[in-house]
Amino acid sequence: MIHKKTAVIGDPIDHSLSPKIHNHWIEREGIDSNAYQKINVKKENFNKELDRLIEEGFSGLNVTVPLKEDAYKYCNKTSDVARALKAVNTLIVNEDGVYGENTDPVGFQKSIQNRNLTNKRCLVLGAGGSARAVVYALQQMKCEIGIFNRTKEKVKALCDDLGVEATILTELSLKDFVRSSSMVINTTSLGQQRGEENNLINFDDLNSSTHVYDLIYNPSKTTFLQHAEKNGCSVQNGLQMLVNQAAESFNMWHNKTPAIDKDLMLALGVK
Ligand code: ATR
Repeated sequence: MIHKKTAVIGDPIDHSLSPKIHNHWIEREGIDSNAYQKINVKKENFNKELDRLIEEGFSGLNVTVPLKEDAYKYCNKTSDVARALKAVNTLIVNEDGVYGENTDPVGFQKSIQNRNLTNKRCLVLGAGGSARAVVYALQQMKCEIGIFNRTKEKVKALCDDLGVEATILTELSLKDFVRSSSMVINTTSLGQQRGEENNLINFDDLNSSTHVYDLIYNPSKTTFLQHAEKNGCSVQNGLQMLVNQAAESFNMWHNKTPAIDKDLMLALGVK
């Protein structure tokens, strides 16, 4: 009997939470599958390693940093979202070849679905790969988007690639946008190192009704979120986005919508 084989690939991959999430659901939902694995794949060996994994019988793969663009190029077929982002985080292998999807935007959207942010003004800090997923989702939500990044040319490229009309913010225009935004989202890696400060905004400019989101989930409360909380803002880390994008992948592979509940959070060590 052949069991399904799934895994996440990336580099580094040791600290990925995806195995905990997927293996919890595989057991909970009684899926006929091997344990979900984590596999380190070097960027320079991407195509060769992917060929090998497919040969070994992997039919579902998650792809993380820095391989999402390589995975996109590897696919025979891709979704509209994947094509817009030119990046893939979910691969499905079947007799027709390799299909690529990107569940990051919907994962982000679902993580804020109860917050009434449709049509609202939102500020995105950063213009890397995860900013693209966030901006794509905000565009679907018809938000008015402002983007601030250290390297301004990257913001322009992001807007052109996604066909998004966003305000490209400068150090000067940032202040007003912070004041008037319903949500501020940090997509930069600043704060990933414990204690590292993210001072891209002046926290005193934050309105207390603003929802402040940091895509970083480890540490669970970055200094960015701590400062925002001190200013009376509601805050959120990237864990809900992570589990929601995982749920979408899981559903694509196993045809089952898994539960995002207290049991899952317990399995992840979150109280
Ligand atoms: P990811 O895929 O996680 O989005 P990425 O594509 O490498 O990672 O993007 C990293 C983001 O963090 C970029 O917006 C980067 O800004 P630059 O485009 O100017 O490089 C931002 N970032 C990283 N380190 C930073 C720092 N020290 N100060 C400001 N921004 C930083």
